[in-house]
Amino acid sequence: MTFDVKRVREAYPALSDGYAYLDGAAGTQVPAAVIEAIADAYRSGIGNVGGAFPASGRSGSIVAGCRQALADLTGGHPDGVILGPNMTTLTYRLADTLSRRWGPEDEVVVSRLDHDANIRPWVQAAARRGTTVRWAEADLATTELPAAQYGDLLSERTRLVAVTAASNVVGTRPDLAAIAAAAHAVGALVYVDGVHATPHVPVDVGALGADFYATSAYKWSGPHIGTVVAEPSLLETLQPDKLAPAPAGVPGRFERGTAAFADLAGVTAAVDHLASLDPAAAGSRRQRVLASMAAVEEYEARLFARLLDGLGAMGHVRLYGRAARRAPTAFFTVAGHSPRQVAEHLAARQVNVWNGDNYAWELAGVLGLRDSGGAVRAGLVHYNDEADVDRLLSAVAELA
Ligand SMILES: Cc1ncc(COP(=O)(O)O)c(C=O)c1O
Repeated sequence: MTFDVKRVREAYPALSDGYAYLDGAAGTQVPAAVIEAIADAYRSGIGNVGGAFPASGRSGSIVAGCRQALADLTGGHPDGVILGPNMTTLTYRLADTLSRRWGPEDEVVVSRLDHDANIRPWVQAAARRGTTVRWAEADLATTELPAAQYGDLLSERTRLVAVTAASNVVGTRPDLAAIAAAAHAVGALVYVDGVHATPHVPVDVGALGADFYATSAYKWSGPHIGTVVAEPSLLETLQPDKLAPAPAGVPGRFERGTAAFADLAGVTAAVDHLASLDPAAAGSRRQRVLASMAAVEEYEARLFARLLDGLGAMGHVRLYGRAARRAPTAFFTVAGHSPRQVAEHLAARQVNVWNGDNYAWELAGVLGLRDSGGAVRAGLVHYNDEADVDRLLSAVAELA
C-alpha cells in the first residue's frame, strides 16, 4: 500500500511549525484528536472514580476504555493493564514487588542493550536481596543481542529475564520469542521493555512471550502515561505495597493514588489514531491496529533506508547499529564535532534530534561513547517524511 504521510501529518497541529521532528524516540507529537479527547474529558466534567454522581462515572468509563484500548494495542487482556505515570515508575514498582520472592540463591538476567529503565530497577532490587545479576551482551560489531547466549545465562536459578523489544538508540530488535522460550523453559518470568518498539511494529504480547510488557503512550502519539500489560492471573500472584483502602484486586492494586483521567482519554484516542493509519484496514480495533502498524513498519523501513543510505555515504559520519531487524532509529557521530554541536547545528536548521547516551547507559559505555558525549540520535516515526530526512542529510553534509 502507499502510506499517505501527507494525510497523517495534517492530523498533527505541531508539525505545522516547519521543524523536522526527528526526536520521536524521546517523545512524539500528538494528533488533534488526542488533544481534543483530553480537552473533552475536562469539558464534560470528570470526578474521582467510585462516586455516586455522573462525572465520577465518566472517569470510571475513561479508565475502562483506556485499559481496553491498551489491550487492543498489545494483544493483552484489559484486566491485566496496569496504568501509571511512565515506564520507569512502573518498572521500579514491579521490581520492588517481584524481588520480594528473590534470595541469594536466585539470579536475574538483564541486557547491555537495554535502556537503563529496564536495567537499574532490577539491578538495585537484586542488590537488596543478595540476588546475582547476569548480563546478556550486545555484539558490538553488529549491535545484535544474540539469543543463543541465553542458553549459558539461564538456569533453574533464574527468576527473571529483562530485555528490550527494541533498542532506543541503535534500534536492534532482539529475537524475543527465542529468548522468552529459553527463559520459560527454566521457569523464569520475562519483562519486556516495549517502549521503543511499540510505535514501530505490530505488538502481540503472547507471540513475544512477554509476561510483562511495558510501554509509554507519549512515544506513540499519546500523552505522558505508562503501562505494563500482564496476564491478570499472574498479577493475582503478586502483592505490591498499597494503601489499606485502595483497590485490592488486579490491576487496581498496582496503581497508586489518583489517575490522570483526562490523559487516559488521550491514550485511548492515540490508540484509535494508530488504528486509523491504514485507512483501508477493517474489522475490530485490534485488527485495524495490527494492519496499520504493519503499514507503519513498511513505510518507516523505506524512509529509514533513505536516511541510512544518505548518512552511510558521508565519510565524516560514523554510524552505530547494524542489526538485521531494527526500529528506524539512527545513532551516529560526526568527525570533528561533538554530538551536542551537531544537534545545535541541526536545531539551527530546524531539525530536532537528540544527543547523548539517551539513557542507553550500558550500551553507550561498551560502545566507548559514554565519556565523549554519546552520539546523535535521529529517530523516524510515522509522521516523518522524505523532506524531514533530506533536511537532516543536507545539514549533516555541511559539517564535512
Ligand atoms: C526503550 C525505552 N525504555 C524505557 C524508557 C523510559 O520510559 P519512561 O519515560 O516512560 O519512563 C524509554 C524512554 O526514553 C525508552 O526509550
